[in-house]
Amino acid sequence: MITSIWAQSKNNVIGRNNHLPWSLPDDLKFFRQETKNKAVVMGRKTYESFGSKALPKRLNIILTSNMDFKSNDPEVKIVHSPIEAVNTAKEQHLPLYVIGGASVYESFMNMADRLLITLVDANIKGDTFAPNFSEKSFSLVSQCHHAQDKKHAYSFDFLTYERKNKSDQV
Ligand SMILES: NC(=O)c1ccc[n+]([C@@H]2O[C@H](COP(=O)([O-])OP(=O)(O)OC[C@H]3O[C@@H](n4cnc5c(N)ncnc54)[C@H](OP(=O)(O)O)[C@@H]3O)[C@@H](O)[C@H]2O)c1
Repeated sequence: MITSIWAQSKNNVIGRNNHLPWSLPDDLKFFRQETKNKAVVMGRKTYESFGSKALPKRLNIILTSNMDFKSNDPEVKIVHSPIEAVNTAKEQHLPLYVIGGASVYESFMNMADRLLITLVDANIKGDTFAPNFSEKSFSLVSQCHHAQDKKHAYSFDFLTYERKNKSDQV
């Protein structure tokens, strides 16, 4: 099972200056709960946005074209193609979560079975954007609202999309 998970604004922004352009603790909590004890694949820039530290309690798979890129952390595996990431998760019998950034979401879109999208109720300035996906290929199966409050400057919705027909996958 391959799940892509991201948070985006109404105008499709997912990042600015290699960071998330908002602070939404309950969205991070959701992300942690979903991905805990799973494999996560991320691009080299997203890994660097975490201070080049592995996300704890997850197998961290880092995608880079740089053959010299190394990590001594046992929780980190370096791969050089999306299919190598898929096989690394399979070898460990772990579901794979695609956690960004933009180029990585695009690369895995044809393989994704499920999309978990946090839709932030704001238009935000940014430099990195959510991937395109077709509502012909995915159906919205659940939606859960989170209100704005003291800790959350914006309200947001957790959306779950599932692939309509596995034969759509390339
Ligand atoms: N809102 C969210 O949910 C969310 C989630 C994640 C990230 N973000 C944001 O997104 C931004 C970072 O995203 P980004 O798109 O700029 O960078 P990125 O996807 O994290 O990293 C891009 C790098 O990944 C490697 N890569 C990607 N596809 C590859 C492939 N098919 N084969 C080999 N290597 C590949 C390349 O590394 P090399 O250059 O080393 O070859 C590429 O330069 C940040 O602002 C971050 O905060 C937001």
